[in-house]
Formats: sequence, structure tokens, C-alpha cells
Amino acid sequence: MKISSNHYYYFATLAILLIVPSDAQLSSTFYDDTCPNALSTIRASIRQAVNNEQRMAASLIRLHFHDCFVQGCDASILLENGSGERAASLNANSIRGFEVVEAAKQAVEAICPGVVSCADVLAMAARDATVAVGGPSWTVKLGRRDSPAAATRALAENDLPCVTDRLQTLIAKFAKKNLNESDMLALSGSRTIGQARCVTFRDRIYGKGNERIDPEFAMARRRNCPESGGDENLVPLDEVTPNGFDNNYFRNLYNMRGLLESDQVLFSRVLTDSIVLEYIDNPDRFYSDFAAAMIKMGDIEPLTGGAGLIRRTCASNN
Ligand code: HEM
Ligand SMILES: *[C@@H]1O[C@H](CO)[C@@H](O)[C@H](O)[C@H]1NC(C)=O
Ligand SMILES: *[C@@H]1O[C@H](CO)[C@@H](O)[C@H](O)[C@H]1NC(C)=O
Repeated sequence: MKISSNHYYYFATLAILLIVPSDAQLSSTFYDDTCPNALSTIRASIRQAVNNEQRMAASLIRLHFHDCFVQGCDASILLENGSGERAASLNANSIRGFEVVEAAKQAVEAICPGVVSCADVLAMAARDATVAVGGPSWTVKLGRRDSPAAATRALAENDLPCVTDRLQTLIAKFAKKNLNESDMLALSGSRTIGQARCVTFRDRIYGKGNERIDPEFAMARRRNCPESGGDENLVPLDEVTPNGFDNNYFRNLYNMRGLLESDQVLFSRVLTDSIVLEYIDNPDRFYSDFAAAMIKMGDIEPLTGGAGLIRRTCASNN
């Protein structure tokens, strides 16, 4: 045990020394000289996409999350690779927003070709999308570079959290990415917008989950999600204000109306209940913690300096 953990630290330190050049730091002013209009160009593109379809805001936040959790925030998830991370069960048929990120990237390519990475476009898209549905804003750190290759399906299945994970497993998966319990709760609060497929919450509404559920809520949800069939039927994650970014996610948990098993597990164990109550009482605290946690999430293992590349299209490796 002791020996293997020593080895782990040795190799982890070695890996950090090898892949992160010492001068590499993300910075909010990264494109100020090379592409000063990048930020406004991306914002306009994302605003238009969210105007066209409100759900897109949710999908972009989640796309950034699934990018960062698997091999770092390197836009690897955007690569079209049928056998890589996109084929993972938590991504396939589930993550969306690719064409919106590509459109924003191409708008930036038109003004400064080969300068702004897809990973940075995605990080800015998540922030601009949040703002477009009434959520908080934050300053996005920039200077990430893009991965030449998709991560493996196995890595995605290992690192992404699942609906059936117990609370301690969720906490451990976030801790591995340097995110603590309040970060995890605040980030999950973005499920105050967006939708989920029947297949992701069927067990919970048919009494096969472990967490408590409001019986009236379960009955209502069964109407859109039959016991068999209808896997792809969509239901809003927050039935009260499905398209508005607010703290209602936490109120739903308090009322045992979390749609996913992994929602309700956040309010049913003494461990994280106090954070849920805090975000119900103090929405401003939720907003500022969400913004801070998004910045922390955007810091996960970026490629910087000479590592990686700037892809010309997000879907392919130049
Ligand atoms: C705590 C662990 C988490 C689990 C188990 C989880 C699981 C899920 C699942 C199963 C869905 C529905 C997907 C589908 O129907 O195909 C979903 C949707 C969503 N999740 Fe999470 N998630 C977690 C954390 C997060 C985090 C950290 C964020 C934000 C940074 C996030 C943001 C979202 C959003 C915005 C949606 C709606 C997406 C859309 O409508 O396209 N989730 N999540
Ligand atoms: C797809 O991704 C996997 C996992 O990284 C990799 O082994 C494979 O070579 C990739 N295929 C293509 C066509 O890029
Ligand atoms: C989580 O980390 C943030 C700083 O990144 C800190 O402000 C917060 O208090 C931490 N929360 C917990 C529960 O440790």
C-alpha cells in the first residue's frame, strides 16, 4: 500500500513536470493582442444559438463539463471519433451542442485564423450560455490548447459521474479533479435548466431507486416516461422554471423532487444537506460559488504553451 502510493506520487510528479511547461498559465487577457474581438464574436454567436433554442444553454454547460472531466479541458470531446470518449454511455445520444461550438469557432476563425483554440471557445460558450439564460457571469481564463486526439471511451466511463453513483463516489470523482463538495453542489445547480431522457430517471420514478421521492412528482413524471419504451423521451430537469437559471434546483431537492437519483442523493445524507440549504436561503451565494466552481473546472489539466495545437475545425484534427 505504502509503496504503491509512493510510486503514484513519484509518477504523478514526473508527469506534471513533463507535460506542463513552467511558464504556462491560463490568463483572461490571453487573446487581447492576437484576437481582441474573439470574446465579443463568440458571445454574439452563443447568444443567437440560445435565442434559437433555450435548452442549448444547458447543453453547452454540460459539454464543457464532459470535456474537462475527461483528459482535461482540451476540446477532445469535440473530435468526431466514433470509438473514443463520445461513444461512452454517458455521452452517446446525450451530449449535444457540437454544431453551436463549431459555428462560434468558425466565426472566430473568420477574424483571426488559427489563433483561438476550440477548448477556449467551449469555455467561453459555457459562460455566455449561462449569462444568456439569466445566470451569473465570470471572467474566463484563456490560453488552453486543443488535443490532437480524442480520449478513450474507457477513460470517459471511469471519470464521468453516473446517475447511480453513491454520494461518496461522486465526491471522490470530483475530488480527483480538484473540485470539493460545494463546487460539486454548485455545478450541479446548473441542472436548474436543461432536460433529461427517460432512460436516465426511470428506475427512480418507478420505485427502484434508493433515494426518497415525492410520490406525486413520481406519478406526474411517469406520464412522459413509461415503464418500458420511450427511453429518449425528454423531461425538464426543473419543472418549475425549466429555462431560467435560478436556485430552484436546490428547492426541488429539498422537496424530494430531484429528477435524477444523483440529484436527490445530494440531499439525503447529512454530508451535503447544509450546502443545499445554504443555496436555497442565499441565491447570491449559489451564483458566486457556481461562477468560482466553473473557473476551477476550466482549470482542469489544460494543454498550454507548446503542448497540443490550435485546431482549425473543432470536429477534426486539422
Ligand atoms: C454530480 C454528478 C453528475 C451526474 C451523475 C450527472 C448526470 C446527468 C445526467 C444523467 C443528465 C441527463 C443526460 C441525458 O438525459 O442524456 C444530466 C444533464 C445535465 N447536467 Fe449533469 N451530472 C452531474 C454533474 C453535472 C455538472 C458538474 C454539471 C455542470 C457543470 C452538470 C450539468 C448538466 C446540465 C446543464 C444538464 C442538462 C443538459 C441538456 O439539457 O442538454 N451536471 N446530468
Ligand atoms: C479515436 O479515439 C481512440 C481513443 O483515443 C483512438 O485510439 C483512435 O485512434 C481514434 N480514431 C481516430 C480515427 O482518430
Ligand atoms: C471548496 O473550495 C473553495 C475554493 O476553491 C472554498 O472557498 C470552499 O470553502 C471549499 N468548500 C469546502 C466544502 O471545502
